[in-house]
Amino acid sequence: MGLIPQDVIDQVLAAYDVVDVVGRYVPLKPAGRSFKALCPFHEEKTPSFTVNPDRQTFKCFGCGKGGDIFRFLMEQEGLTFPEAVRTLARDRGITVPEVHGTTPEAEGRVEAVRRALTAAQAFFVRCLQADEGREARAYLTKRGYDEEAVRRFGLGYAPAAWDRLLQAATKRGVDGTVLEDAGLAVLRPDGGHYDRFRHRVLFPIADLQGRVITFGARALNDEDQPKYLNGPETVVFKKANVLYALDRARDGIRKHAEGGQALLMEGYTDVLTCHLHGIDRAVAGMGTAFTPQQARLLKRFTKRVVLVYDGDEAGRTAAERTLDILLPEGLEVRVVLLPRGLDVDEILLEEGPEAFEKRIAEARDALDFKLEVLEQKHDRSTPQGLAQIARSVVATIVKVPNFVVQAEFFRRVSEQHREVSSEQAFRDEARRRLGEDAERALYRSRRAEGAEQGPTVAGSSVLSQRMRREAEEFLLAGYLLYPDQKEAIRRSVGPEDFTVPVLRRIYNAALDLEEAGEACDLRVMTARLAEDAEAQEVLAGLPEDPTLEERIPFQIEFLERKRGKKRQVLEIRQQLAEAEPTSGAGGLNLPGGETQVGERSDGTASREQVG
Ligand code: UTP
Ligand code: MN
Repeated sequence: MGLIPQDVIDQVLAAYDVVDVVGRYVPLKPAGRSFKALCPFHEEKTPSFTVNPDRQTFKCFGCGKGGDIFRFLMEQEGLTFPEAVRTLARDRGITVPEVHGTTPEAEGRVEAVRRALTAAQAFFVRCLQADEGREARAYLTKRGYDEEAVRRFGLGYAPAAWDRLLQAATKRGVDGTVLEDAGLAVLRPDGGHYDRFRHRVLFPIADLQGRVITFGARALNDEDQPKYLNGPETVVFKKANVLYALDRARDGIRKHAEGGQALLMEGYTDVLTCHLHGIDRAVAGMGTAFTPQQARLLKRFTKRVVLVYDGDEAGRTAAERTLDILLPEGLEVRVVLLPRGLDVDEILLEEGPEAFEKRIAEARDALDFKLEVLEQKHDRSTPQGLAQIARSVVATIVKVPNFVVQAEFFRRVSEQHREVSSEQAFRDEARRRLGEDAERALYRSRRAEGAEQGPTVAGSSVLSQRMRREAEEFLLAGYLLYPDQKEAIRRSVGPEDFTVPVLRRIYNAALDLEEAGEACDLRVMTARLAEDAEAQEVLAGLPEDPTLEERIPFQIEFLERKRGKKRQVLEIRQQLAEAEPTSGAGGLNLPGGETQVGERSDGTASREQVG
């Protein structure tokens, strides 16, 4: 599939009204010139989702999602842009040219494969219900799948003979070659075929639209190896791009709490047992190494992933590897390792869904998990062990693309694991990543304790200012987007905490409005500050991060630490001035170096507010 020509895109846009497209999924209520609804992309009780027919756009002021009809379909159906365009084009009879095109034969082949898979699925389901399916039925019952569950997940049975599917297909005029193309039959040296799956329970694997694309086939007896036999790659199945049960879990993932959450597990049965017990946000990989494509697929639905893996050596190693794939994609990863080497399926059946959810709520974040694993692997009491730990921790932290999160990780190691953060490897990397000043700031608390105390000359750091501005924008966004956070922010953050004038202006205006008894949110403020071009730009660009709400306490803490440091610096200054009355403190830069006392790099005089 190549690029879709712009005129075709325009044609599709012109063929639809955003109100109809969105209205197919969400009941819309008129509100003035636009429409309102409960947002389909996050959980909410009062509608902050609006559709604007003038602009032909939608926007949620709660979770920040917005865009045109294509974007809506991409979000709602988990489609890529070309898929969204093609879907809408098809319904209006608009032809979308294939650029480096598939031929009609190729297209016919895909269709034939799909039909074969659908028919095979029905065949396997029938076999499970027939006499010959008795052993398989008993097996499934033993594992906790009742009739209803079997039906819901489309489970089936492939009979023990070599050609049952082949014969059934031939009767319907489908030959062995098509079954081979679909991954259901294997070619024999004599040119004939035999059934790939024999005497196994079949778990259909579907694409995002719920169409069967292959099967995972579990042996009924331990002697039969491998335990799971997966279909090979075909025209409709590329294993690197598929997540097991994502078609069932997509809504559950998206709707879980604020910002959604996906549970990523190792096994098919782990996932199905979750869904059976109402934990509807579970998915698994394909039994092979997790891929960046799978990470990006997941990211269409949420940024938050919890890995739930066996607590044994193999599970831990797998969790570590998967973490290293997920982090660079900007996903926020937490990890649960299950006790006693049990897997999800076993734990869930043993202790029930509530206890299981509790484990998930207590998941460790990526950094804690990594540190724990490293301490099991290396001996922290030896210099070599410590150096290993430092290098590996750094390797993980640098994979995090979000600057604020990365800085927080560096900070946490330096505050909670001093021996590790004292390692040269760690310091070098922290400095390289964060800039000299920020790195110095990470170590400042130790210096302030007196270790290597003394005035240092620090240049102002663009980077740490960027960090500061990000923190301030975060809080402002939090204030305007999350009513539940208002109180906490107002309590801890005064207008003087905003060092960026425009941010302070907006915050002040919001406080004024509220003092006057008016509600204030992003929209109100945008209208209120209509004349203020700079404010408009800031308001339009406030971070729309679904994880924002959760991170607000950290940002408050960040500002509070800054305040603490300022106070500290002022105190040291005072002491110096008292000890050496003539030198004064003009131009003296003290350790820490992030915000210079006396003058800021933008030239504005600092107020030296001490909170
Ligand atoms: P596990 O060995 O943990 O299996 O493999 P499981 O899911 O707990 O299976 P049950 O409970 O014994 O039925 C995890 C995943 O690895 C893949 C499958 O995707 C499986 O779900 N796998 C495992 C294979 O592809 N082939 C195998 O032989 C074994
Ligand atoms: Mn299992």
